[in-house]
Amino acid sequence: MKIKGKEFRTIWFDEVNKVVKIIDQTKLPHQFVIKDLKTVKDAINAIKIMEVRGAPLIGGTAAYGIVLAILENNDLEFIKKSAEELIKSRPTAINLQWAVHRMNNTISMIDSSDLFQVALNEAKEICNEDVKFCENIGLSGLKIIEEIYNKKKDRVNILTHCNAGWLATINWGTATSPIYHAHKNGIPIHVWVDETRPRNQGANLTSFELNEEKVPNTIIADNTGGILMQRGEVDMCIVGTDRTLSTGDVCNKIGTYLKALAAHDNNVPFYVALPSSTIDWDIKNFKDIPIEERNSKELSHIDGRDENNNIKKVLIYPETSRSLNLAFDITPAKYVTGLITERGVCEASTEGLKKMFKS
Ligand code: MRU
Repeated sequence: MKIKGKEFRTIWFDEVNKVVKIIDQTKLPHQFVIKDLKTVKDAINAIKIMEVRGAPLIGGTAAYGIVLAILENNDLEFIKKSAEELIKSRPTAINLQWAVHRMNNTISMIDSSDLFQVALNEAKEICNEDVKFCENIGLSGLKIIEEIYNKKKDRVNILTHCNAGWLATINWGTATSPIYHAHKNGIPIHVWVDETRPRNQGANLTSFELNEEKVPNTIIADNTGGILMQRGEVDMCIVGTDRTLSTGDVCNKIGTYLKALAAHDNNVPFYVALPSSTIDWDIKNFKDIPIEERNSKELSHIDGRDENNNIKKVLIYPETSRSLNLAFDITPAKYVTGLITERGVCEASTEGLKKMFKS
């Protein structure tokens, strides 16, 4: 998708300098900075401090992390250790371990002299596949939006939470892909963007990328969705996910569950968009999903741009207050209208997912 009219992906390999390029998302929306990842440590750090974030992009970065490890030291022990460190860099998004395991499987049978090229090809393949899957998610989601538009014959209002946009993936996004497809097809769309405290991925990233693609949107405080639904100003919700269980239970950015409850109470369809790399086929009970607890300073301090264009971090809480920063929550399957996947839309249930992903 575009930034200042120029097409970008969120991550790519610079063949000349043998580095991985990323868009540093901690600087958006105020600064657009492309950063080089030169070592596997750089990749681990980028995931940890959220220079890259969003489940599919975390997976893509981890895949390139393995490539960087091989470049640095083509030694099996080092690569194995690097893979373990990568998996530990963030706990909740399942794409991270999925990508590292896929890389490990691919390189495990390869002679060490070919390792780099094979790993690079696989990392590129993981990213290209994500773009294709996200595009397909968009085409399936487009049909749902078209149906609403054909009935309503007026602007379709969609609420989304956090950033499940192209910045959270390699391109297109998961939740935003149907939105971009509808917009490109001339359907009048307007997006309610949950600010998404504490990191403000909605305000800083979703609204930013929608603006760049000229999709009308309005940022709302995280608590506003409920009244908008009661007023009939939300036609549907689409969110992404960091891990969805084979039972259809959805783990996503903190606050998603409350939106799903409000949607249920107001008969607003609540869809979750995801590539199959985000499905956890092993864990059956949502209580077993590791929920990341991040530094409480993400709550008590906030970044902003002052009148001299300097980015500043300021304290907004009483100095002595304690705070708790849980990064994700679970929306039980019963509140999910449907899962929009690369293979089509299915019920959020064991049967629905089994039918969609027979193999
Ligand atoms: O903590 P983040 O920013 O990595 O959170 C991930 C998210 O952006 C989401 O929760 C998103 O909706 C799912 S990833 C497509």
